[in-house]
Amino acid sequence: MVTKQYSELNSDHYSALHKGVQLVLSPDLEGQAQRIWISSGVTRAATMSGHRSYAPNAFIPQPPWRLPNSSEYQLLCADNSQANPLGWQLGSFIGVCRIPDPVLAPLITILEKLEPATLSRQHFLERLQSPENKQAILPIIQFLHRYFLFPHQPKLLGFYLKQPGLETSTATLAQLQPPGQAIDPDQVVYVGMHLDSWELAPVEQRHRSRNRLCINLGREDRFFLFINLTLKDLSDALNPLEVKNDPNGVRLGELFMQRYPSYPVVKLKVAPGEAYIAPTDNLIHDASSIDKQQIDLTMTLLGYFGLPFVMNRRVLLDVVTGNVWSSS
Ligand SMILES: [Fe+2]
Repeated sequence: MVTKQYSELNSDHYSALHKGVQLVLSPDLEGQAQRIWISSGVTRAATMSGHRSYAPNAFIPQPPWRLPNSSEYQLLCADNSQANPLGWQLGSFIGVCRIPDPVLAPLITILEKLEPATLSRQHFLERLQSPENKQAILPIIQFLHRYFLFPHQPKLLGFYLKQPGLETSTATLAQLQPPGQAIDPDQVVYVGMHLDSWELAPVEQRHRSRNRLCINLGREDRFFLFINLTLKDLSDALNPLEVKNDPNGVRLGELFMQRYPSYPVVKLKVAPGEAYIAPTDNLIHDASSIDKQQIDLTMTLLGYFGLPFVMNRRVLLDVVTGNVWSSS
């Protein structure tokens, strides 16, 4: 009975974008106008999509995609011209920035020699382990210091290779394989729009989890997909009893998409040489290589990242006072 009442109250309320996760675009990016699109909602993925298997409860964006109107654009994008006294919101801001070509050049040269399209991911990663190749990563890490919210050591999650033409690109193995064994493509299952759980924090702590910086090392645009609501926003939209039974929030995304399939997914373009920063432990997301012709290649780090603009003064103050996470 509680579920029915709650659903009736909210179903129309979540058929259009709400103000939630905010997007911040670095001013030096090209092509600001044609950078975001919104879907018509989400739909359950067919268990088999072409040659690909999806998990039984997977959701993917529902086309058609369209450009946001001006009020939707304002809901999605933070106003970078005004100082926000709360500073960069680790768990609810997404940024896009550009890594200069000379910084990326040594690594790109190595990657092109490795010809990733001809290698399995395992072989590709093995070859990338040489000291010379590791040296090529150092200038990138050095450059990224400007996006550290405070001095720390980010974790290099690694390099990810994805095939072109994928509506959503995150996959997992259907069953565990012995370490070192080559991945059998037939054993891969795509998960659809999902939540990361690198730190598996409870819902009320998710906004404090490390966020992710992901560089597009490919030659074509790629797309980051997300629902612009934090995990706390999702829990507020759902039946309190369901939330109570899921303290880490790992099923809230699926419940939300099941109950509110009209709520749009945002598609954010990340051009070659650009990086996105996103709290992937705190929002439902995936990436897409649907319009690509070539292999999708990214480098991903986990840390505390943000774009340097006026809003970060509060974060710096908090670091000095030892009160880093006072704001949500
Ligand atoms: Fe993810």
